[in-house]
Amino acid sequence: MIGTKGTVTGVNGNMVSVRFDGDVSMNEVGYVKVADKRLKSEVIRIRGGISQLQVFEITKGITVGDQVEFTGDMLSVELGPGLLGQVYDGLQNPLPQLAQAAGFFLERGVYLDALPTSNTWQFTPKVKPGDKVERADTLGTVPEGSFTHRIMVPFNLYGSYTVSWVKESGSYNIRETIAELKDEKGNAVPVKLSFRWPVKRAIDCYEERLKPTEPMVTRVRLIDTFFPVARGGTYCIPGPFGAGKTVLQQITSRFADVDIVIVAACGERAGEVVETLKEFPELKDEKTGRSLMERTIIICNTSSMPVAAREASVYTAVTLAEYYRQMGLNVLLLADSTSRWAQAMREMSGRLEEIPGEEAFPAYMESTIASFYERAGIVRLRDGSFGSVTIGGTVSPAGGNFEEPVTQATLKVVGAFHGLSRERSDARKFPAIHPLDSWSKYKGIIPGEKVAYAHGFMRRSSEVEQMMKVVGEEGTSIEDYIIFLKGDLIDAVYFQQNSFDEVDAAVKPDRQKYVFAKLLFILGSKFTFTDKNEARSWFNKLRQKFLDYNGSPWKSDRFDKLEAEIESSVKSQSQGLDKSAEKIIY
Ligand SMILES: Nc1ncnc2c1ncn2[C@@H]1O[C@H](COP(=O)(O)OP(=O)(O)OP(=O)(O)O)[C@@H](O)[C@H]1O
Ligand SMILES: [Mg+2]
Repeated sequence: MIGTKGTVTGVNGNMVSVRFDGDVSMNEVGYVKVADKRLKSEVIRIRGGISQLQVFEITKGITVGDQVEFTGDMLSVELGPGLLGQVYDGLQNPLPQLAQAAGFFLERGVYLDALPTSNTWQFTPKVKPGDKVERADTLGTVPEGSFTHRIMVPFNLYGSYTVSWVKESGSYNIRETIAELKDEKGNAVPVKLSFRWPVKRAIDCYEERLKPTEPMVTRVRLIDTFFPVARGGTYCIPGPFGAGKTVLQQITSRFADVDIVIVAACGERAGEVVETLKEFPELKDEKTGRSLMERTIIICNTSSMPVAAREASVYTAVTLAEYYRQMGLNVLLLADSTSRWAQAMREMSGRLEEIPGEEAFPAYMESTIASFYERAGIVRLRDGSFGSVTIGGTVSPAGGNFEEPVTQATLKVVGAFHGLSRERSDARKFPAIHPLDSWSKYKGIIPGEKVAYAHGFMRRSSEVEQMMKVVGEEGTSIEDYIIFLKGDLIDAVYFQQNSFDEVDAAVKPDRQKYVFAKLLFILGSKFTFTDKNEARSWFNKLRQKFLDYNGSPWKSDRFDKLEAEIESSVKSQSQGLDKSAEKIIY
């Protein structure tokens, strides 16, 4: 089919205005022809016979009069086996291959197949001729890494179909037809191992969305115990420049209890992205012993690529996540940083001369962010299995000011908030999640009242600390001082986690529950000391022992020995449990 043609009438940064004859629709892909290149673009506004397109490439050289070809297709991605382990740009070009094809400096206008066409996949049919199927039903499976990749009825085939024939077990290429379906009118529809889906449309081939209730364990204590994330839920990590957003996401991508991790590095510094790329293939997945990369997809746009590509990476990433959810898998999508995506929105909106909202972000930014996070969720599929997409996005507010529009828009829609604090990262207290500002609406691995009890100490301890800054240590009562020391202890031995220590870097839920119970006992104990010096030195020793305990392998001899020492030390100093603690602990 020959699509609509157009002519460039104006260029403004990454936006071109195009006069066209015929039909053009919103979000349709067009190619701007410049010299011998075709630059991929997306229609973002249509008025009369003029449309505005955002160009996903540098627009240098485009001039008035250049030709534009509209494709009639929405911006879409290819879904099929072979996605896992890939490193893509926002337009689903495999970056390593792109670099090979175009040299070190990525050339514009080069688009490659998203999925390897030379591979074959071992297909096992799951349907037979005559079977009735609907979109997203499984026609067969192929193994992909350690997963069973479902070959499904393409999601755009609405209505009911009958299987005419299906290939028998064997090796097939993604370009081969593996089955033929017949629609209700008797038209034949060929199905291959892969198909395309528009990135801006949520994949909704499920029976029911459920409320996210089960925790998605990250092995970060502060998250799992205090500010949990649910499978199928959403969370946001706002933090000032250099406060540890990226490191926290990397830790999570390694240890989160999910099947598949998709990282959308959206507008991060190129150096950082390269580091991620170099490191990932070398990391081992503890569950399978294979390279972590085999269950990971990285979508990466560095800050040197045009802003439109950032938006594309966010949507591409979430679409791939939804695709794997359709296979009954648990997927975690990490977007770093959504602020850069919002900045891209602001830039485009400015070019479109739209009425600006707060801080010049477009008025629709809030709903755009909301509809992105709404694509997370835990769902029941037609075959009864469950799949989930959990979304965690970082936000980099200028100056660390959480009142700014992107952080605020995100806070309205997410279920948990892990606010990173400059003060804590400067003090090298990592992860720098602020224990008082952060919150979560989800249920964690430890009963809420126990967590609230410990959290209460943290708050009171911080109040005492503030007061001490005014009245000095001398002006503080010994009771208050002990509260301060207890809060300090939770912070040091539970909130902070040493990501460079093999044992402490990632703590499984059983151990978190066990150690938290020990800590709760200490918090709830009544201690008496002759003076503050004695109190301080006792708590210092306890803290050191506890840190060693945290660093000892779970239930090792050393772990048991340190635990016995901690317990006897607490026992000899304690006057028994506080009344309020008794209720909580027993
Ligand atoms: N959990 C951690 N353990 C130890 N060091 C950490 C941890 N988190 C962050 N850091 C230190 O802080 C530095 C900055 O962290 P990171 O790059 O994650 O910050 P960021 O918030 O992503 O910054 P930006 O806003 O520039 O993207 C790291 O290079 C590292 O030295
Ligand atoms: Mg970062």
